[in-house]
Amino acid sequence: MAAYNKTYKLRNGMDLLLRSPEESDAEQMIGYLNTVGGESDNLTFGKNGFHLNVEQEREYLKKVKAAPNTLMLLGFIDGNIVSMAHIDSPEKARIAHNSELAISVKKEYWHMGIGSVQMTELIGFVKNRGTVRNISLGVRDGNPNAIKLYEKCGFVKVGVHKNFFNIDGNFFDEILMDLYLN
Ligand SMILES: CC(C)(COP(=O)(O)OP(=O)(O)OC[C@H]1O[C@@H](n2cnc3c(N)ncnc32)[C@H](O)[C@@H]1OP(=O)(O)O)[C@@H](O)C(=O)NCCC(=O)NCCS
Repeated sequence: MAAYNKTYKLRNGMDLLLRSPEESDAEQMIGYLNTVGGESDNLTFGKNGFHLNVEQEREYLKKVKAAPNTLMLLGFIDGNIVSMAHIDSPEKARIAHNSELAISVKKEYWHMGIGSVQMTELIGFVKNRGTVRNISLGVRDGNPNAIKLYEKCGFVKVGVHKNFFNIDGNFFDEILMDLYLN
């Protein structure tokens, strides 16, 4: 993954720094993920439910750094992580032209345009690579903010995984969405 570092002026005037993660970010990233997990029922884990410890997260970040088909972005406001975004492609040649993405924003920073900025950067990254034809994602049925954002970016609904999410014993479908680049 190429090193990435850009500052955006948000519509409320705040500066958002988007940059690639370093291994030294591991602890703060886990704190962020354990917090955002509890802020909605939209992720695959809940409050304090992130599955890696600091050492494992550092190892994961090393792999991310070495993967040319991957872009991971951390969003910072005043030095604190407020968002995260990730896109990657499989290594297998027959499916390497597909990418999958995932994003999150800390709740107190929703509706400021951070999700949109991240989507633009992730999509721009794979467009620049020039080999990706399809970006896929999955979103919990009943997450209108995310679905609106993805539709705004050109994603279309292509299917459903029935009862994919088990949120405290309540089952929700996962809506599958694709963006076709050519
Ligand atoms: C989904 C999420 C990433 C959106 O992030 P965000 O920073 O609030 O997104 P933005 O401010 O860029 O808003 C993006 C678009 O979503 C739509 N949107 C956002 N909130 C909306 C709302 N309450 N009602 C209608 N549309 C809304 C709008 O189209 C908006 O575009 P606009 O601001 O140009 O009108 C954020 O809500 C989040 O992290 N949620 C929890 C985790 C999650 O759901 N991740 C996605 C898992 S698939």
